[in-house]
Amino acid sequence: MNKLLISLLVTFGISGVAQAAGDAAAGKANTAVCAACHSADGNSAVPNFPKLAGQNEAYLLKQLKEIKAGSRQVVEMTGLLGGYSDQDLADISAYFASQKVQIGQTPEDQVAAGQQIYRAGLKDKGVAACTACHSPNGTGVDSAGFPALSGQHAVYVEKQLKAFRDGARANDPNGMMRDIAAKLSDTEIKAVAAYVQGLH
Ligand code: HEC
Ligand code: HEC
Repeated sequence: MNKLLISLLVTFGISGVAQAAGDAAAGKANTAVCAACHSADGNSAVPNFPKLAGQNEAYLLKQLKEIKAGSRQVVEMTGLLGGYSDQDLADISAYFASQKVQIGQTPEDQVAAGQQIYRAGLKDKGVAACTACHSPNGTGVDSAGFPALSGQHAVYVEKQLKAFRDGARANDPNGMMRDIAAKLSDTEIKAVAAYVQGLH
């Protein structure tokens, strides 16, 4: 994707990204069932369960609506969201967004390769720098629906990039992530996933 298009997306947001207006306190009351996998404050201890703490609110709400509708398949959450209204999901999103993410670590031997991809992309393959949308410190851009990656478990990130690459996850607007992941090798995915786990 070209730089102009990316900056337009960042400036004006992707149409269709819901305007989240959740109440964090009301949301907390609905998260007991989530804590088993994501932890009460959203800093999950298990690396294949994503951290939700500090994730952008609009992104969380989009994912919850899509997981509920089945357009993003999360087997572990099947049927779990059926009883929640859109307002409940907005409140839950506000709650996890208000928590502080615990940053992990990047193994020494992955820092250079991971940082190179994250900051500069891969010019010869036409892979855009991750910073363009996920920001230099990994906080993403809430208004544009670009998720935070900072501190996310490498195992989970790796799984998502492979899912975008093989199309198992296809809920990214305009195929933005599928286009990028399609060009990444297993080794590159591993490096950039390890990098974001320690990024802040
Ligand atoms: C049995 C375990 C389990 C429970 C309980 C659970 N989840 Fe999940 N959740 C998962 C897994 C596993 C994934 C990631 C699946 C994948 O790899 O795509 C996920 C993904 C998510 C995502 C997407 C995160 C992202 O970064 O894209 C959100 C948001 C989420 N869960 C919220 C919730 C909420 C809110 C609840 C409670 C109402 C909940 N989950 C309960 C296991 C669980
Ligand atoms: C043009 C903008 C753009 C660029 C560049 C980009 N991303 Fe993304 N990325 C997105 C969007 C938008 C989503 C959310 C898709 C959705 O709504 O489900 C996303 C989602 C992700 C996710 C899933 C997050 C989660 O919590 O499940 C990962 C991992 C990811 N991107 C990694 C990367 C990496 C690594 C790079 C660089 C190689 C990159 N992205 C470059 C826009 C971008």
